Amino acid sequence: MPSSSSSDEKFFLRLGWLALLFFSASGVLLELFLAYKQPFYVDASSSTRRELLRLAHSHGGALALCCLAWAFTLPRLKATPGNHPWTYRFARYGLSWGSLLIPTGFALGAWGAENNDPGLGILLTPAGAFLFLLGLAGATTAVWKQK
Ligand code: HEM
Repeated sequence: MPSSSSSDEKFFLRLGWLALLFFSASGVLLELFLAYKQPFYVDASSSTRRELLRLAHSHGGALALCCLAWAFTLPRLKATPGNHPWTYRFARYGLSWGSLLIPTGFALGAWGAENNDPGLGILLTPAGAFLFLLGLAGATTAVWKQK
């Protein structure tokens, strides 16, 4: 993991664009499931699985944009990670892990879905949400500490 503001910027630019590519491509996959009426996706009994896959796709796309927002914010901050180490550390680890775990949890929950219950993998989502909130708290504090 990077340790300075400029390497954080590079890291979040790379993560954000890669995640946006991946989760946009997952939208094409969902379109194909719909177009070819795949039973595991379109049947009434598969509504939980479809909902969870849609949530994985949409959260992945939106969280990728959040990573890019942090990458674009970093060069505008005058403070450096050296001045406020914990805010940057929270932002770095919280935003990156949260952005990965939330959609992964939805996708794994869809994978193991049975009788309208998500699979156990869904537990990654609340863990990711907690980390993401810590990340947002770090980023918000870093921005508000600007003189
Ligand atoms: C190539 C790009 C994309 C394609 C082809 C695509 C395709 C799709 C498809 C097929 C669905 C419907 C799935 C279903 O109803 O079963 C969907 C839903 C959704 N997508 Fe995308 N998507 C793309 C990019 C994105 C991005 C970048 C975001 C977010 C930043 C996003 C957010 C959403 C949301 C919020 C929904 C749920 C809408 C609802 O429930 O009514 N999509 N997308």
